[in-house]
Amino acid sequence: MIDIQISEKKFWDNNVEGYIFFLKEGIELVGKKEDFEKVEKDFYSNLKEIFKKHKFEGKIGQSFVLTATKDKSLIQLVFVGIGKLKNRWNIELENFRRAVGTSVKLLKKLKIENAVLSVPDEKSFGLIKPKLVRQIVITSLLAEYEFTKFKSDKKEDIKIQLLMDVGSDESQPFAISLKEGQIIGNATNFARYLSDMPANYMTPTSLGNEAKKIADKNDLECTVFGAEKAKELGMGGFLSVDAGSEEEGKFVVIEYKSLKKDAPTIALVGKGVTFDSGGLSLKPSACMEGMKFDMSGAAAVIATMSAIGQIKPQVNVVGITPLVENMPSGKSCKLNDIITFMNGKTAEIKNTDAEGRLILADALCYAEKFYKPDVILDIATLTGACLSALGHFFTALLTKNEEIGTKLQAISLVSGDRVWPLPLDDDFKKAVESNVADISNIGLPEYKAGTITAAWFLSNFVEKTKWAHLDIAGTADSIPSISYLGKGATGAGVRLFVDFILNYNIDKR
Ligand code: BES
Ligand code: ZN
Ligand code: MG
Repeated sequence: MIDIQISEKKFWDNNVEGYIFFLKEGIELVGKKEDFEKVEKDFYSNLKEIFKKHKFEGKIGQSFVLTATKDKSLIQLVFVGIGKLKNRWNIELENFRRAVGTSVKLLKKLKIENAVLSVPDEKSFGLIKPKLVRQIVITSLLAEYEFTKFKSDKKEDIKIQLLMDVGSDESQPFAISLKEGQIIGNATNFARYLSDMPANYMTPTSLGNEAKKIADKNDLECTVFGAEKAKELGMGGFLSVDAGSEEEGKFVVIEYKSLKKDAPTIALVGKGVTFDSGGLSLKPSACMEGMKFDMSGAAAVIATMSAIGQIKPQVNVVGITPLVENMPSGKSCKLNDIITFMNGKTAEIKNTDAEGRLILADALCYAEKFYKPDVILDIATLTGACLSALGHFFTALLTKNEEIGTKLQAISLVSGDRVWPLPLDDDFKKAVESNVADISNIGLPEYKAGTITAAWFLSNFVEKTKWAHLDIAGTADSIPSISYLGKGATGAGVRLFVDFILNYNIDKR
């Protein structure tokens, strides 16, 4: 548990166990010179010498803790490096987020139950202070998340109170930043929880129930249907993957309706394969491990809807997630089967492990047909090739719409939920042609570029709507080097979607 508040007092006037300070490389506080002087005056007059002795230079990743006495009790001074500041704002902001992550992890480790965090000065990292506060709130919540549900001896969960010293700027809209930050941080952690849950618990049915629960809680419309209705709608892609599993697939639709008249509509479509064994094109064991994360796109969409239900922007949002398990069995879809999607197009199955695009195809048709949205964004752990191209740090962004693409990338770099474009160029279009059907479900091997050919496959199912595809195969789970995420599910897409929606120009249609 972490409780975050804005502090109106100077840091030294708060009765707490710890102070957190951020230092640039070369040992300089970010802004706030007076804070540093106060520490030197009250506690350690030779602070810089001490840092030097211990080789603490304020580099990114470095931290240093000193204990001091104040009013006869001990107080921990936590110094965290943020590296260099050279006006490369996006990079520096991400470094700062990681420093915040390091701080929160330190508070937990040292069992410091209440602390004041000295918020850097106006315009550091290219953000106005309320926006920076919003980032600190989100990041602190992310840093606090741990997946301990199945640990018998849970470490006692300490409750941390974090006070943000914003200086004497009370007139700025910090309350909104705090509230939005909390909603977004908690929603991202909810997505992480859904993804971290193993596939024996998080089946299509239970994930569908989680969606219903979250919709109820936030006054959102939620519809969940299964194979029967999917058959009526002609969802041959969804059904072909669903066929192999004992668990019934579910198709989930969550709607947020803005009170504003004629508001634009954004559709979010998320891949929800609760376990991807590969089907009859069975994955080797080492590749199958981790495939509980194959519903992370759906988790991002469901969690985004919960945040949107709370923030209530002036944009309509519909979240659509097809949920299935991809399994081999006597009822599985076979190689060279030909299936027909909701829009009447046909595809030859050349590999049953390219299942995500099959369920997304019907979901994209469904979004366009029933909601006529202004924009469709889909998100999926779609291709292993994406992991090779961008690793765990960047989500692949593929779109033919330059405006949406530029916007998404810019927003992603500020939110820390980073995307990088790959070309959805005509040169790759022929890769998914088939001899016997309209298209093939995998790209021809000579075209390589599996992430791009998968996106070309999907493009067949969006007729006239502005559309962007996000491949989170790499970013859905993390390696430990991002301090505020650690290992496990990341909630990739939630921070990006919420900010995209909140920034969507409501006058532009
Ligand atoms: N779920 C996988 C993609 C994936 C791989 C996500 C590794 C995360 C880590 C997807 O369904 C898949 O198996 N894709 C195949 C497609 C291929 C058969 C064209 C792949 O990438 O190998
Ligand atoms: Zn998959
Ligand atoms: Mg697969």
